[in-house]
Amino acid sequence: MLGLVQTSLGVSAEWLRDNCRCAECRDAVSGQKLFDLADSPAIAEIAESAAEVTVVFADGHRSVFDRAWLAAPAPLGHRDESSKDLWTRTDVVSASWLAYLDDDAERLRCLDSVLRNGFVLLRGVPTRPGAVLEVAETFGFVRETNYGRLFDVHVVDSPNNLAFTSKPITPHTDNPYRDPVPTLQLLHCLENAAAGGETTLVDGFAVAARLRAEDPEAFAVLTQTPVTFSFADATTFLSAFRPIIDVDPAGRIREVRINNRSMQPGREHGPEFYRAYRAFRALLTESQAAFRLEPGDCLLFDNTRILHARTGFETSGSRHLQGCYADIDALASSAAVLRRTPVAELAAMFTGPGAAAYLGEPVTQAQHMLLAGAAALHAQAPDHLVAAALLHDIGHLVADEQHHDTAGARFLARWFPPAVTEPVRLHVAAKRYLCATEPGYFESLSQASVRTLGFQGGPMSEVEAAEFAAGPYAEDAVTVRRWDEAAKDPEATVPGFSLFAPLLERLVRP
Ligand code: OGA
Ligand code: ZN
Ligand code: ZN
Repeated sequence: MLGLVQTSLGVSAEWLRDNCRCAECRDAVSGQKLFDLADSPAIAEIAESAAEVTVVFADGHRSVFDRAWLAAPAPLGHRDESSKDLWTRTDVVSASWLAYLDDDAERLRCLDSVLRNGFVLLRGVPTRPGAVLEVAETFGFVRETNYGRLFDVHVVDSPNNLAFTSKPITPHTDNPYRDPVPTLQLLHCLENAAAGGETTLVDGFAVAARLRAEDPEAFAVLTQTPVTFSFADATTFLSAFRPIIDVDPAGRIREVRINNRSMQPGREHGPEFYRAYRAFRALLTESQAAFRLEPGDCLLFDNTRILHARTGFETSGSRHLQGCYADIDALASSAAVLRRTPVAELAAMFTGPGAAAYLGEPVTQAQHMLLAGAAALHAQAPDHLVAAALLHDIGHLVADEQHHDTAGARFLARWFPPAVTEPVRLHVAAKRYLCATEPGYFESLSQASVRTLGFQGGPMSEVEAAEFAAGPYAEDAVTVRRWDEAAKDPEATVPGFSLFAPLLERLVRP
């Protein structure tokens, strides 16, 4: 019965059905699901081998899963406390804006600091008005609010917000009266010549975790009692009704929302609430990181976790910050893209779309390519030919079946030199060449390979064959083709992708 069958890996049949990667179940380009589990029939049979788990469903659909893929840990969310490095008093993590712009590794370090520590300080951002928007655009999109695409933090007449005075501002998160709240804030210092006006940051998650340990009752009150936060001026009336500490269904801290200026407890908020609020506030003031923003400094921080504050300042000197908001999930996406390496991406293709059946062959696409790579290794071929053999059919996993040779070569050219991509581009031509020039070769082809030969153009003519043979990569393409043909044995031992990872790393263009 669907849902009751457990594999030795402890995952349900429904989960397996939901995770089938074959060409019928997932779009080849986007990887998106083409079916809905709710419409799927019951399971008929499960077969397990050392490398794979095969599931057959009542409608005859077969799903083949790589054990290594099944055993890989599921990706975790990036918002809750479990993916963070909590801190009490920290050194300010800073980086140079130019290095951030020029060097992907440095950019990733900065974005990771926002995700893990909750903030980063970029130094040397030009003190040009509007530059804060350019900073946000390096990793995501600006979130426009009632304050505009950006806002100026300086002293103005009749301010609609105390931020626009010289008064001190206690630790807070911004826009708590927004739901959804802006998750990321940027503050860029253009001028800071006033006495005072120091900045402090507090890790709201670390302090909330401390409250949970030291005063669990107060923690419970703050997580279970929603409060109204509101903001009004001539053109705006915003209000949100959320708890000060928001936890996810597993009880993990996920958002802190606190701002004395706009919090409006209702009549129902009695002494218990205020006791808890005071307790949290007291701990918050104990663990502040204090520093001074200098012109050119741009602070990026998680507005659902880090509280920021400033001391009051003298109006005899001028102080001018510009700020804007953005989305932390977009920042996390940029970091994830920077974290992608060619080899990791290829590995994911082998275990994801590669698990699909290889039309008419008794092995999957991934098994077929791994066996071709293994044959090349066995022949002690040079690295570039092992890679070409391993990746020769990658085009099946990226695009349209009929031109998988050119599609594959084009895909691989992002990372690999022609010594790898050319034999891939020519591996179908090599089959047509061998059929024309080598007696007995055609007879050795598998049924599926004979079928595809038809729409691939059939055996080459004499002229075509001579032209092909004169090309610089013809010999390599023919060599790869022989491994390709030999890599369809369902009884052969299939190596893991990781066997090839170091070799691929060596070949990737710097
Ligand atoms: C703000 C704010 C801090 C500062 O505008 O939200 O907190 O240093 N400003 O002026
Ligand atoms: Zn603020
Ligand atoms: Zn092949």
